[in-house]
Amino acid sequence: MILIAPSILSADFACLKEDIQKVERAGADWLHIDVMDGQFVPNLTLGPPVVAAIRKYTNLFFDVHLMIERPEGLIPDFARAGAELIAVHAEACHHLHRVISMIKEQGVKAGVAINPHTPVNVLENILEEVDLILLMSVNPGFGGQQFIPKVIEKIKQVRAMLDSCNSRAYLQVDGGINDITAAQVIEAGCNVLVSGSYIFGARDMSQAINTLREANPLDHL
Ligand code: DX5
Ligand code: ZN
Repeated sequence: MILIAPSILSADFACLKEDIQKVERAGADWLHIDVMDGQFVPNLTLGPPVVAAIRKYTNLFFDVHLMIERPEGLIPDFARAGAELIAVHAEACHHLHRVISMIKEQGVKAGVAINPHTPVNVLENILEEVDLILLMSVNPGFGGQQFIPKVIEKIKQVRAMLDSCNSRAYLQVDGGINDITAAQVIEAGCNVLVSGSYIFGARDMSQAINTLREANPLDHL
């Protein structure tokens, strides 16, 4: 089953509540919440108070993507604010295993994200500890960028790594997902698709979500 996680980075921040309720009505599975610190990535977004504020208005699963340096200090705050899954970047953690354990101690699902240029072997020794692997298919920091095709190969590699240890962890891709790239990443083995501009820019969000969920590589031959 393919899950669709609209990224609130492409929502109208002046109408966050309404936009979240719109994607929920349109059939989204998760809400992808992009947190940026102006250090790990050259942009700033939101923190735990905003997560707590929107938590009251939706039942969507809160998938929090931390693009912040040394995320350990904020993990309890995001968990208290209502995060149900917290993904940290391998590149931003000196002690990744410790950070993943901290997330799980909060009773929250734990994920590891890697940037497009980071090799998949950094995941080898943490694979069995996590609930989700997030492969970035753009350089993190902004919505609306172009998908980096090289990531397809990484998706196949991580799919094989997960299968070989019988892991049921989600394999998520984030960045530049549209009707064409969705088909490619699903074929390569992803089962959670993050999408910002394609969904929020669509005239019919529900149709956009269904198009991503049902994207079939054969349609684009
Ligand atoms: C990028 C974020 C993504 C982004 C995706 O740093 O992690 O979640 O919002 O946006 P699109 O789908 O527009 O590439
Ligand atoms: Zn993201």
